[in-house]
Amino acid sequence: MKNPIAPHGGHLIQRVLDSAQSAAWRQRAAELPRVTLGERSVSDLETIAIGALSPLTGFMGEADYRAVVETMHLANGLPWTLPITLAVAPAVAEGLTVGAPVRLDDPQGEFLGILELSGTYTVDKTHEARQVYRTDDRAHPGVAVLYDQGEVYLAGDIWLLERRPHPLFPTYQIDPVASRARFAEKGWRTIVGFQTRNPIHRAHEYIQKCALEITDGLFLHPLVGATKSDDVPAAVRMRCYEILLEKYYPADRVILAINPCAMRYAGPREAIFHAIVRKNYGCTHFIVGRDHAGVGDYYGTYDAQHIFDEFDPAALGIMPLKFEHAFYCTRTQGMATAKTSPSLPSERIHLSGTKVREMLRRGEVPPPEFSRPEVAAELARAMHETIPG
Ligand code: ADX
Repeated sequence: MKNPIAPHGGHLIQRVLDSAQSAAWRQRAAELPRVTLGERSVSDLETIAIGALSPLTGFMGEADYRAVVETMHLANGLPWTLPITLAVAPAVAEGLTVGAPVRLDDPQGEFLGILELSGTYTVDKTHEARQVYRTDDRAHPGVAVLYDQGEVYLAGDIWLLERRPHPLFPTYQIDPVASRARFAEKGWRTIVGFQTRNPIHRAHEYIQKCALEITDGLFLHPLVGATKSDDVPAAVRMRCYEILLEKYYPADRVILAINPCAMRYAGPREAIFHAIVRKNYGCTHFIVGRDHAGVGDYYGTYDAQHIFDEFDPAALGIMPLKFEHAFYCTRTQGMATAKTSPSLPSERIHLSGTKVREMLRRGEVPPPEFSRPEVAAELARAMHETIPG
């Protein structure tokens, strides 16, 4: 069966070199000028190359950058909310020639890809922060990355030398070409994508299952790119997802795969970005719950849902499924939201991520109304492992 959803921009971008091409570049490695990528740019390079960021073929040029920052669309009018840029220090930019290839290395100095440098430009970072993150506060983790990076942005198409298996989760590395094939094999016509950077607790499970009631399949797509240091590490989360799927989900309705994007914590704008990425993986629907991709108190609880009203649904091409804050309701004895339960606030069990971390640190296990016991036990075990002594 043919997958019914087109990639963003109509065509799935593929920018991974074949082995002969990459061997030719490796031969020239020593003579190429080099730029060392930060963790976020490594993710961007990889995600562009596999088509997750279609229609992008490289790091944004000035026209796209300005259009995205000011209008949340690319220069050609397609919805796009986050700048995908490669920032370097002025001294690094000075050593490069527009029109010539640049070698892109990871932070350990390994040759990962090629940038066909088409231009350079400088930006007003405070303006970018206010537009993209709705704040210029350095305490915001996304703004801090922006302020700490270089002043010059390099533009140009990229090539990835090779697509290597993920070092920790190779079986869950399912790139857009493969996820589309898997959905087609299963005969799913409607697929709901779920973004997460957290262990899956009962509230997540509830909204996923509500969505699954009206779609054919769930694409569970946790982000494993860079996150802030106090988020639960990806390896621990993956164990929790496996444990949860094994016992609480029907195996033939869920595909678990890793999302290699880096987290920006840009709230509403990142919700649109997350939806577009899942469209590229072949999803038709995307879950947006409370404070999606938010951090601290920078965004209103449902801002990441309201922002979808600013876009032409057809141009976006993936349907958001919006959920209110879910909790365990002691009155009706089940998961619910204010839309489905008459409970008073005192009858609602919900814990914030910070509260859960505090409990685990004190050696307490989160209650079964909040987290499945097997997941809670795994988190407690992981917390114990990471505490010295
Ligand atoms: S995020 O940064 O990846 O958005 P998280 O992993 O916590 O953070 O959330 C994953 C998805 O679940 C998001 O769409 C978020 O809005 C939603 N979500 C998280 N907790 C709840 C909740 N209690 N009620 C409703 N939606 C929620």
